[in-house]
Amino acid sequence: MAITVLLGAQWGDEGKGRITDALASDADVVARFNGGDNAGHSITIGSKVVRLHSVPSGIFRAECLNLIGNGVVLNPRSLLKEIDDIQQKAGVSVNPGRLKISEAAHIILPGHIALDAARESAGGGIGTTQRGIGFAYMDKASRTGLRAGGMRDPERFGDAVQAHVNQVNAILARDYQRQPLDADAVAAEYAAAAQQLKGFLANTSVIALNALAQGKRILAEGAQGVLLDIDHGTYPFVTSSNATIGGVMTGLGVPPQGIDRVVGVAKAFSTRVGGGPMVTELQGEMALRLRGTGQNPWDEYGSTTGRPRRVGWLDIVALRHAVQMNGMSELALTKLDVLSGIEVLRIAVAYAYRGERLDYFPQDSEVVAACEPVYEDVAGWSENITDIRQFNELPSNTRAYISRIEELTGTRVSIASVGPERDQMIVR
Ligand code: GDP
Ligand code: IMO
Ligand code: MG
Repeated sequence: MAITVLLGAQWGDEGKGRITDALASDADVVARFNGGDNAGHSITIGSKVVRLHSVPSGIFRAECLNLIGNGVVLNPRSLLKEIDDIQQKAGVSVNPGRLKISEAAHIILPGHIALDAARESAGGGIGTTQRGIGFAYMDKASRTGLRAGGMRDPERFGDAVQAHVNQVNAILARDYQRQPLDADAVAAEYAAAAQQLKGFLANTSVIALNALAQGKRILAEGAQGVLLDIDHGTYPFVTSSNATIGGVMTGLGVPPQGIDRVVGVAKAFSTRVGGGPMVTELQGEMALRLRGTGQNPWDEYGSTTGRPRRVGWLDIVALRHAVQMNGMSELALTKLDVLSGIEVLRIAVAYAYRGERLDYFPQDSEVVAACEPVYEDVAGWSENITDIRQFNELPSNTRAYISRIEELTGTRVSIASVGPERDQMIVR
C-alpha cells in the first residue's frame, strides 16, 4: 500500500499545485480530499498558467486517474467551467475515464455562496473567498446537505436545489435585506449541470482501495494549509475543512497504514490571504519586494480572488508545528528564487508573548496575535538561481538558508524550487 500525502505547511498558496503536478509523474491516482473551489492551484506549462480549483493537479499527466474525494465540497457550476477551461487552455480532455467524483462529496449551492457573501459584507467576516465553503460544510455537519450522488437523478436534484434556494431567500431577506435568487433559473441550471456531471460519479473510496490493493501509487493533494485547518489553524480565521493529515483518511476513505510519505509544501517566506494573525507579517518596502507588483504570474496575488496576499518572513514556529503535527517526512521549499537579491533574510525561530519565549504555536488566535517574532538573521544571496538544477551549484548562502530550515524543523528539504516552470526544481 502506498499513499504519498502532499499538504500545505503554511497558510495556503505554498505551491502545492505545481509540486503535485511534479510528483504526479510517479503516481497512478491523484486525489483531492478537502476544501472546494476556494483552492487555486497554479500549474505553469510552457507559456501557459492553468489555475485548478476543484480538479486534482494530476490532470496534466495522461496516465493519472484523478479523484475528487468525499471530503471535498463541490460547486457544479464552477467545475463545469473549470473542465472547459482545462480543455480550452491546455488541450487536455477531462472525461469520466480520467476524473471521478465521489458520490458522497457535498454540493456547494448558489445559496451557500450568497450567504457567504452576505455575511462577509455585513461585517464580522474573516475574509473568505466567498465561494460558499463554510455554509456548504455547515449543511454537511448539520445533516441537511445535498450530496453529489443526488445528481444521478437530475430532476429530483433540481427540485432539491430549488427548495434550498427558497430557504436561503428567506434568510437573505430577513437577516441581510438582500434580493432573492431566482429559484426556477437556479434549479434548471443545476439539473442541467447534474445531467452533464452524473457520468463522473463513483465510489471513490472503493476505487482508491482497489488501487492500493493492486500496488498502485496514490498521491493525496491537500488544499489550503495546516494553519487554515478548522481544528488546528488560527480559528476562527480558518477554512471549514481539515487541511491536515487526518483529512486524508476521512476525506478519501483510505486507511492510515497506506500512507508512507508526507510531503509538506512550504514557501521560503510566508504569505496569507484574508484575516487572522500572522506573526512575521511585514509592511512597507520589504513587503512590496516579496509580494511583487503583479507583473509576474507568480507574484503574490490570490489565484482565486486576485486579492494581494499578506507577506512576511519565514515563520519556523508555525512551520515546525506543521511538520510535527502531520508527520511530514520532508519539505518541498518553493519560491527560493524570489529571495535572490535580499541582503539579509530573517527567520522567526520563536515567539515572544508578554515577555515569555514560546517555542510552540499557540492554539488561541488571540495569543498568536499578541506574539512578537524572535528573529535570527541569515545572510542572503545575490545570484539568480532560476537556472540551477543541482543542489551543490546553489550559492553557499542559499544552501545555508535551506540547512538552517532543516535544522530548525527537524526535517529534510527534499525539493528546492527555483521557479514556477515544471523543470525549475532541484530534487535531492
Ligand atoms: P497552491 O495553492 O499551493 O497550489 O499555490 P498557488 O498556485 O496558489 O500559488 C503559488 C504561486 O507560486 C503560483 O503562481 C506558482 O506558479 C508559483 N510558484 C510555485 N513555485 C514557485 C517557485 O519556486 N518560484 C516562483 N517564482 N514561483 C513559484
Ligand atoms: P489553496 O489551496 C490561501 C483562506 C481565505 C480565508 C479563509 C477562509 O490555493 O492554498 P474560505 O473561502 O475557505 O471560507 O476562506 O481561508 N483560504 C485560502 N488562502 N489559499 C487557499 O487555497 C485558500 N482557501 C481558503 O482567504 O482567509
Ligand atoms: Mg492557491
